Amino acid sequence: LAARHAALLPGDLNHAFYCNSGSEAVDSALKIALAYQRARGQGTRTRFVGRERGYHGVGFGGISVGGMVNNRKWFGAMLPGVDHLPHTHLPENAFSKGEPEHGGIALADELERIVGLHDASNIAAVIVEPCAGSTGYLPPPKGYLKRLREICDKHGILLIFDEVITGFGRLGTGFAAEKFGVLPDLMTVAKGISNATVPMGGVFVRKHVFDGLMTGPENAIDLFHGYTYSAHPLACAAASAVLDIYRDEALFERSAELSPYWEDGVHSLKGLPNVVDIRNLGLAAGIDLAPKGAVGTRGYEAFVKAFELGLMVRQAGDAIAMSPPLVIEKAQIDEIIDIAAKTIKAVA
Ligand SMILES: Cc1ncc(COP(=O)(O)O)c(C=O)c1O
Repeated sequence: LAARHAALLPGDLNHAFYCNSGSEAVDSALKIALAYQRARGQGTRTRFVGRERGYHGVGFGGISVGGMVNNRKWFGAMLPGVDHLPHTHLPENAFSKGEPEHGGIALADELERIVGLHDASNIAAVIVEPCAGSTGYLPPPKGYLKRLREICDKHGILLIFDEVITGFGRLGTGFAAEKFGVLPDLMTVAKGISNATVPMGGVFVRKHVFDGLMTGPENAIDLFHGYTYSAHPLACAAASAVLDIYRDEALFERSAELSPYWEDGVHSLKGLPNVVDIRNLGLAAGIDLAPKGAVGTRGYEAFVKAFELGLMVRQAGDAIAMSPPLVIEKAQIDEIIDIAAKTIKAVA
């Protein structure tokens, strides 16, 4: 399975560590980053940089680098030594189709400010979702990810892409790294890796990360980390079968082909009552509704109404996020847009 994944992944992302969820993948990636830095003699690099409105699962590592207040505020001090980049949702980018125009470089340059505060010699890794998923789907403004990559390269900081949502075809490419032409040092995945048929997650690492860590004799354990169910045969079999289906049914290509139709559909909701922003990239979208009373009230009403009408949306505050299966048909996209429109009118 690892060989098949390596063949599918961009660049030299050619080694895999398997686990059972996205949360485990994120905590594993953070630990691999720390261990790698130490193995190459950079053991002072212990800090992480995450992002506001980021979601990286519910492990202590994931909530520490994540930026969703309700996932954090109950759980004490979490990991020490974490800073957060600003989120990428700017009002001037409202109703952008695909990648927003404004602010990408300035937002990424905030990483320089954090480096200036702590010194690069103390920073192990930056972790971001290429498109933030769980806070209402926030595609990155143009140039943002490339600039993050440049700054990480300049300072010897590892870049981790959390592709739990964007991986395996969501953006019309195998991975967001290909869509944006930016190669991370580590990539976390889950969901699409097994199409959720069997719980599975994974961390893919580039050759230099693998080589940097695997320095001992063949029989020695170099990375003291792993789960009883890492690379469970059932999960690996499911993941392998899913790769067959992605290939045989050309589902990544299908995602790319359907994305413009999806984009037109979701943006046709502009102008309906209380719709204050619509975002899309690949086969996913976020729609912000103006709040009504307490934050989340209208969003929850929309979630319930859509469900009653036959559509499952994800609620994030007053945003609703949608990410249809890659096998969706155009007529079904029409149905989704129709129900979404009825829902939005019903919660006006
Ligand atoms: C970007 C991202 N990272 C991590 C996770 C956590 O994955 P899991 O729920 O499998 O632990 C999620 C889940 O939605 C996610 O969207």
